[in-house]
Amino acid sequence: MTLSQFIAKSSGLGKRHAKKLIEAGDVRLNGEIVIDGNLPLEKFDLLSANGEILQARTARYLLLHKPIGILSATTDKIHRTVVDLIHEPWANELHLAGRLDRATSGLVILTNDSRFSESLTSPDKHVPKTYLVQTDQAIPETVLQQFRDGMSFEKENTRSAPAEVELLSETSCRLTIYEGLHHQIKRMFLRFGIRVTQLHRESIGPYHLGNLQPGEWRNIDFPLD
Ligand code: URA
Repeated sequence: MTLSQFIAKSSGLGKRHAKKLIEAGDVRLNGEIVIDGNLPLEKFDLLSANGEILQARTARYLLLHKPIGILSATTDKIHRTVVDLIHEPWANELHLAGRLDRATSGLVILTNDSRFSESLTSPDKHVPKTYLVQTDQAIPETVLQQFRDGMSFEKENTRSAPAEVELLSETSCRLTIYEGLHHQIKRMFLRFGIRVTQLHRESIGPYHLGNLQPGEWRNIDFPLD
């Protein structure tokens, strides 16, 4: 939507009124006087006319440590969700940039900026996600090699990018994958009859859980490239 269209609509006074306001130099976009009403109004622009704010939406970017048992969803009739952990009036504007299973803990990212969430979740962006994995039995080297080679996922008709994997003990590893397929890690291990008993996400791209405790969240002011 253009500035003129937005002003015409939000004032209810029509296009001519919007044009007059803009021509009079009464309209500011992100603090600067605008004279071109055909400029597009973006979701997080600050727009005012005669000092009155017409649109002020804050872009929000949050890192949250999802505890086990909390649902990666915005609302749910039965279970508590990650949004229920954010006691802010704007919490219901947020959506998730990638989910975790209910039994998985660790980093989730919430935002109201869909361009940002798409930059993290879109399959062609190949954003690395790193997990700590515990299993019910020893993880053989042959399995690690298959992860490193990439695996095919018939249901999604895709092949995973080569994963990075570091064995931490006989039954635990740090695994980095580049997709976000449903139950991806559990399915990767189950192919070899191995059950994942604990799963925890440490990072998504450049974002790390750091010392956030389960249930805690923090803002990131400016998303990194
Ligand atoms: N893989 C899984 O199986 N579960 C998750 O929550 C994340 C990755």
